[in-house]
Amino acid sequence: MSDEHTTHQNFETRAIHAGNTADPLTGAVVPPIYQVSTYKQDGVGGLRGGYEYSRSANPTRTALEENLAALEGGRRGLAFASGLAAEDCLLRALLVPGDHVVIPNDAYGGTFRLFAKVASRWGVQWSVADTSDPAAVQAAITDRTKAVWVETPSNPLLGITDIAALADVSRTAGVKLVVDNTFASPYLQQPLALGADVVVHSLTKYMGGHSDVVGGALVTADAELGEELAYHQNAMGAVAGPFDSWIVLRGIKTLAVRMDRHGENAAKVAEMLSRHPKVTRVLYPGLPEHPGHEIAAKQMRGFGGMVSFRVEGGEEAAVAVCDRARLFTLGESLGGVESLIEHPGRMTHASVAGSLLEVPADLVRLSVGIENADDLLADLRQALG
Ligand SMILES: Cc1ncc(COP(=O)(O)O)c(C=O)c1O
Repeated sequence: MSDEHTTHQNFETRAIHAGNTADPLTGAVVPPIYQVSTYKQDGVGGLRGGYEYSRSANPTRTALEENLAALEGGRRGLAFASGLAAEDCLLRALLVPGDHVVIPNDAYGGTFRLFAKVASRWGVQWSVADTSDPAAVQAAITDRTKAVWVETPSNPLLGITDIAALADVSRTAGVKLVVDNTFASPYLQQPLALGADVVVHSLTKYMGGHSDVVGGALVTADAELGEELAYHQNAMGAVAGPFDSWIVLRGIKTLAVRMDRHGENAAKVAEMLSRHPKVTRVLYPGLPEHPGHEIAAKQMRGFGGMVSFRVEGGEEAAVAVCDRARLFTLGESLGGVESLIEHPGRMTHASVAGSLLEVPADLVRLSVGIENADDLLADLRQALG
């Protein structure tokens, strides 16, 4: 569904123009918010422009979906009410009871919860593998496996998976490769071009970019799978509303410039933290000592805005750093223009406690915003004490 007129254009241009055709009625250069549920038919079945009911399709959502497909280089983009709604739709479209999925040993806690507590009740099997090791993923694939699920960079440990290597493993095994591209955004990383079958997004994060909307997306390389997912999107109903679609579409126009600044600021933060006496380890793929640095450099345009670090003194010390931060707002989520700090063990990843995905208690996660870098560094220095 990506716009034929924009596929040859560079990313920054596509971000602004794909799906954003001027309104045919008024010439408005920005797609209007079609805050409408139903559409007048010219006689039974006589649809104007193909729209009949906004769960099935809505023009503002269509604009976003075309934009998403163009940015990821996919055939079909679909927008949902949240990242987890998108994931849920994908699971139900791909899997039947008894099917098996390989999931990463480091992933967003809510994704793990969806598999471990929800999909498993419907008979979906899962096992955990270190997706940074293609041999480990290969060993985890069984004759019931239908998909390999990857998050790269991962949340919250910033692990890196070689997408092209896993695409080879998945293709050979005849299973789908799903990549959660939330941390990178399509500006920094294009999983479909590296051989993935489906890209997942929490649009809540860098795509929206301003901490003012919750949304999700699926983008497929293949039109047929896209059609299957669109069928499930309509049948299950967790679609993105017109206003939410519009606000994500607006956020995406500045994605490239925001990601550049997020990355510049995060690199400065990671460098300062790696020299700080109270910090025992910095997890940032831009640092040469990061185990995934070379693969990240190969498959990403930049290293992104997320930085995690471990603090001397254990859990209480990590919590105290979070509590002392002032400019970094203590809060969940990520990817907005404002910097956020959080303690994954007690906050975003509390749902993985006691599982194979449990995160270190002394871990702090930063979503480095686009404020002035000196102000960010000063706040972190005072928070570390
Ligand atoms: C990597 C990743 N994937 C998916 C999700 C789920 O998205 P949402 O919160 O929009 O449902 C999140 C949320 O934090 C995330 O960080």
